[in-house]
Amino acid sequence: MNPDSFGNFANRSSSKWRRFPEDVLPMHVAEMDFDVAPAIRDRIKDLTDRSDLGYTGPVPEVAKAFEAFALERWSWQIAPEQLKLATDVGVAAVEILRVLTKPGDKVLLNSPVYSSFYHWIEEVHAEVSDVPLVLKGDDWVLDIAGIESAFKDGVKVYLLCSPQNPVGRVHTAKELTEIAELADRYGVTVVSDEIHAPLSWVPFTPYLALGPAAQHTGVTISSSSKAWNVAGLKAAFYITQGPEVQARLRAIPEALHWRTSLIGAFAMESAYSDSVQWLDDTVEQIQENLAFFQHEVAQKLPKAKLFNMESTYLVWVDLAGYKVDKVQHVLLQQAKVAVVPGNDHAPEDQYSNFIRFNIATSKARISEAISRISKVLEG
Ligand SMILES: Cc1ncc(COP(=O)(O)O)c(C=O)c1O
Repeated sequence: MNPDSFGNFANRSSSKWRRFPEDVLPMHVAEMDFDVAPAIRDRIKDLTDRSDLGYTGPVPEVAKAFEAFALERWSWQIAPEQLKLATDVGVAAVEILRVLTKPGDKVLLNSPVYSSFYHWIEEVHAEVSDVPLVLKGDDWVLDIAGIESAFKDGVKVYLLCSPQNPVGRVHTAKELTEIAELADRYGVTVVSDEIHAPLSWVPFTPYLALGPAAQHTGVTISSSSKAWNVAGLKAAFYITQGPEVQARLRAIPEALHWRTSLIGAFAMESAYSDSVQWLDDTVEQIQENLAFFQHEVAQKLPKAKLFNMESTYLVWVDLAGYKVDKVQHVLLQQAKVAVVPGNDHAPEDQYSNFIRFNIATSKARISEAISRISKVLEG
């Protein structure tokens, strides 16, 4: 089947469309099959029309736009002069980990979590310390007692995924307050990856909005790249609000700013200022797609288990009921559907029956993917 019949995206050249042969439906990488916000496209066009494509100098417009967005959306007053540009969230995380850890130091995360977290920790030769999320009813929640034990045990840095990819959990203000107090008590730096935050449909709490304990301990990394679907533009930022953390991060090379794309920086400005209605419409579309996905799964994959979701477009699906080994491999080979394997999200094999499925696409594509999976798993 020609993927074009599900929306004209196969002419895109990003990773999503080039990794697999044309007969495979790409439901894996976190890119959305939606058109980029018109204001962002205009901003890019304006820069190119004026041949304004040089090195990245001061771009105070980003901090100004994010300040207004964060205040309006989350009642979070940032310190705009403390927002520093970075190439992307991954690069920001690695540079931060590099100055906060020595080889062999422990960095805490909570599986299941975005697979690059493991690679970032490995890149700086630190060690992964995992306190897995706990499944309570249909919610994957933080294990605060486990986190305290890990802090006591000498964890240096806590890499927090807030909201959590792949389960779509928005950690509560209460949980995050407890984490901030513990981090302050045990001298742990919290690196809060909030890239998915604008895609939340329940109240989201920014870590640094939680007051002194969070500000003593926290650095937030984010970008408009995920929520506004412009990952190829290569621009992100990190932000702090306390002199203690600022002192710890002083060794980050200034060149990080220069390594950020000028187009990406101005796209971030446009995202947080002129493209907020586009974001709200997109979050609504994602919720509608989620309801559609849940309905399709209930009809065609009755043994699949889904969980509560509060944010983003990446769905964590438990296919253990089908008792298929290496399920993502079978789905790719036999159903011609690409998903992210569950095991990519944990240090060991505990999620081999899970997949991560991207619903930011047309309903036709979702329906076709579920039908193909159903044909293979249900027979
Ligand atoms: C939690 C999280 N952080 C970071 C990224 C990647 O961000 P960047 O492309 O800016 O490195 C992703 C991508 O899906 C993500 O889910």
